Formats: sequence, structure tokens, C-alpha cells
Amino acid sequence: MSSRVITFGNFKGGTGKTTTSTMVGIELARRNLKTLLVDLDPQGNATNLYLKTKENVDNEIVSFNKTLMAGIKDQDLSQTIINILPNLDVLPSSADFSLYPRFMETVSGNYNERVWYFSKLLKEFKETYDYILIDIPPTISLITDSALYASDYCVIVLQTQERSLQGAEAFINYMQEQVIDTFKAPTLDLIGILPVLLKNGAPVDNSTLEVAKELFGKENIFDITIKNMERLKRYDVTGVMFKDQFDHAVQNVYENVATEMISRIGAIENG
Ligand SMILES: Nc1ncnc2c1ncn2[C@@H]1O[C@H](COP(=O)(O)OP(=O)(O)OP(=O)(O)O)[C@@H](O)[C@H]1O
Ligand SMILES: [Mg+2]
Repeated sequence: MSSRVITFGNFKGGTGKTTTSTMVGIELARRNLKTLLVDLDPQGNATNLYLKTKENVDNEIVSFNKTLMAGIKDQDLSQTIINILPNLDVLPSSADFSLYPRFMETVSGNYNERVWYFSKLLKEFKETYDYILIDIPPTISLITDSALYASDYCVIVLQTQERSLQGAEAFINYMQEQVIDTFKAPTLDLIGILPVLLKNGAPVDNSTLEVAKELFGKENIFDITIKNMERLKRYDVTGVMFKDQFDHAVQNVYENVATEMISRIGAIENG
């Protein structure tokens, strides 16, 4: 077995990358698929969400063993991993990870080598997990380059508004021109573009979706769209909950996202 590595991207901030990667991670784990969420964003949003989620479930405060940056310096990430739920682990990020690009300059003078480095560190997990999901910041940097180089697949998270559309377009061009053509990413492929609705069916949603279909091809847009759900915003504060009908409604949506994602991967792999 070798894991499938998937990055969730868009060069626009706040489009739902972290929400999608963390919720899909929970859903994959519930299917007994061993999943690792790699948080490569120094903001640590995914890490915080998962740590709060673990606190809800286990009723105890969790703390870091070791930061991601410290693990990278030691060339061993295994000590940094934290278990969140059955089948779900996180490689947690924190603010010191913003030093990664500067640290890597001391490792190699060659930019391509710096890009390749992180994928080598991930190798030790490739036989352990079914899925490795990577959450990245919304900016072009060595961090995003390293994530995409290490990935087999990418899901573009598109919030239905003009700037997110521009961010998605820039991201796709960047994947092709930089990551595949220049850095020679060995396996990177686009799973599709996942729409996150701004206003649940308002004209802005429909018109952005129409433009996206024209721009990226209808076949590249996920059939499922993620509605705007207040409950997701609350999870920023409380962590993911598994209690009432609103929690179940949220989880139901990401169950469908995971199903479509797995089926799209199957279609790519079976030609
Ligand atoms: N479907 C949704 N319905 C309602 N709120 C949502 C939805 N998806 C995401 N959000 C909220 O929108 C905000 C931004 O989402 P998120 O942090 O996932 O974006 P991001 O793309 O990871 O941002 P960044 O680029 O800063 O990393 C968060 O407060 C999140 O809770
Ligand atoms: Mg994020």
C-alpha cells in the first residue's frame, strides 16, 4: 500500500481549504481509512481545529509533543504526530513553521532541491496511511511548492466569488507551469474543483459556477457543492462536534464530498 497524497489549494485566502481538508479527513477516518492531515500552514488553523475536536471527544487538554519545524530540523517527523480520532492523525503546525523557507536555505542552495526535500520527509508515512491530506497557506512560497511537489493529487477549493475564481485559475496555471514543468513533480494531477457556495444558490453562486465550468471544463467541477453552513463557523471556536442534527448535516455533506473525491480518483487511476 502507498498513500494517496492530496493537497487542497487556492491562492485566495479564506475559500474553505482548511475546512474541506479537515472535514474530509474526519470522513475518511470514519470509513476506516487511515488518514494523516499534514498542516503546512503556519497559521495552524487545521491543527487548532483538530486539537479542539480531540478535546471534545476525550475531555482532556492536548498539547504538542514537538513542533513540525523541530521535527524537520531533526529530519524525523514521527515524534511530532498527534492522534486525533481513531484512524486520524495530524502533523501539527505552529507559528515557527513560517521559518521553514529560511531554514531550508541553509540546507541547500538549489531551489529545486529545497522543493524536493519535504517529500522525502513524508516518505516514512507512505506505507502507514491510506490518505495523506495537506492543508496549505494561500500564498506562493517554498511551503506550497513543497506540498504540491509531494502530492499525487490536488483539489481546488473554489468559493463562489470572483476573487476565488482568479485564485483558482492562478493556482491551476502555477501547478502546470511551475510545479509540473519546472520542479518536475512526478505524479501531480487535478482531482477537480470543489465549489463552496457563498450564499446558497444566490445569483453570485450560479454565475460563478457558470464561469468556472467554461473556464475549467464542466467535467473538472465536482457535482457536489458545499452549502454555506453556520455550524462550520462555530467549529472554529468549539472544534468539530458530533452531537445534534446540524452536526450530522455538516458531516453528511463531507461524506458526499469524500465519496465523490474517491470516485474521481478511481476514474483517474483506471484511465
Ligand atoms: N461551507 C461553509 N459554510 C460556512 N462557513 C464556512 C464554510 N466553509 C468554510 N467556512 C468558514 O470560512 C472561514 C474560512 O474558511 P477556511 O479557514 O477553511 O479557509 P482557508 O481557505 O483555509 O483560509 P486560509 O487561506 O486563510 O487558510 C472559516 O471561518 C470557516 O469556518
Ligand atoms: Mg486555511
